[in-house]
Amino acid sequence: MISRRLLRLPAFAAMVALAASSLAAGDVAVLEAIGWKLFFDPMLSAPRNTSCATCHIPENGFESGVALGEGAYGDRLPRNAPTVVNLADATSFFWDGRAESLEEQAKGPIENPIEMDLSLAEAAQRVRDEPAYVRAFARIGITDITIEEIGRALAAFERTLRTGPALYDSWLAGDRSVFDESQERGRMIFFTRGQCATCHFGPNFTDGMFHNIGTGTAEDPGRFAVSKDAYDLGAFKTPALRNWKDREPFMHDGRFATLDDVLDFYSEPKTGAVGETELDPLEFTGQERADIKAFLETLNGSWPDLEPYESAWTEIQ
Ligand code: HEC
Ligand code: HEC
Repeated sequence: MISRRLLRLPAFAAMVALAASSLAAGDVAVLEAIGWKLFFDPMLSAPRNTSCATCHIPENGFESGVALGEGAYGDRLPRNAPTVVNLADATSFFWDGRAESLEEQAKGPIENPIEMDLSLAEAAQRVRDEPAYVRAFARIGITDITIEEIGRALAAFERTLRTGPALYDSWLAGDRSVFDESQERGRMIFFTRGQCATCHFGPNFTDGMFHNIGTGTAEDPGRFAVSKDAYDLGAFKTPALRNWKDREPFMHDGRFATLDDVLDFYSEPKTGAVGETELDPLEFTGQERADIKAFLETLNGSWPDLEPYESAWTEIQ
């Protein structure tokens, strides 16, 4: 019997995802190209005006570039759109972790009335009615296109989205000379006195868990809405910190326009409207703030190049 603990391991989740796909490597590439096409296809929204990329804009780090974006009918969304890169090893999705796989997550926005507002049955029908998708899916032996296949394709595409190496990776690989003094001091603060790595650690600088840092409100108590456990009041999923540069504004509600605002907040944290903050008041000096920022700059690498997906899509047609 598989223990629950094992089931939480990212490697295991990736294995399950791979087994579930039961596709040969070439076929996975086809599925990824289909996912790319679907991600940019406004047909997945009822009024045919909103695609996944309307809110997860590649030029904005696959986020919206605004605090709270708008859905297909112009309704304001309750939360900031997180990025969709570097999620291959993630084990929970949405700020409150209410979806447990990318496949499951993908259905959420399609049928959400204020996002894309399309029934899942209608979404599958629209894809089935599109000869280009029918041809593409047929290449991997899928003749009955269901919403499950659509979710698999979107998830397969998203899993490939990884940011390129950053200066920090050269440092990690052993080249200590790449950091200047400020970046090195910032690294020390991040991992020690600053306590950032209590929650932001690992390859993507997230523990994948939920924490109260004082940002919850009565309207949005975060993880509590899913778990109903008082311990989770005001807790949100720790966001990954790689490639933060193009992903402003920050936090689940986009309350901070810049990284400086975020650092001001961490310097003097306050208990929010719900639950209690886990943060200690650290009162960073101006120099410490500058150093942390200099270190965080080293986490920015390149964004994924989408051109190969377009070529792959053309090729499978
Ligand atoms: C109208 C804007 C909008 C559209 C369209 C949209 N999203 Fe999102 N997306 C969001 C918002 C806002 C959230 C956060 C919601 C929450 O946490 O409750 C989100 C969350 C996500 C997440 C979770 C990321 C994480 O780190 O937990 C993924 C993955 C994602 N969207 C993929 C997609 C895909 C795939 C589509 C298309 C089928 C899509 N989105 C369409 C706004 C949008
Ligand atoms: C107790 C856990 C915890 C600690 C400690 C912590 N963070 Fe966070 N961090 C979070 C959570 C949770 C969020 C998201 C909160 C929200 O969305 O309301 C967050 C958000 C952020 C964001 C915004 C990212 C985005 O994509 O919106 C940045 C930047 C950040 N933290 C940097 C830091 C730095 C720098 C430190 C150390 C000074 C730090 N964090 C310490 C848990 C933590």
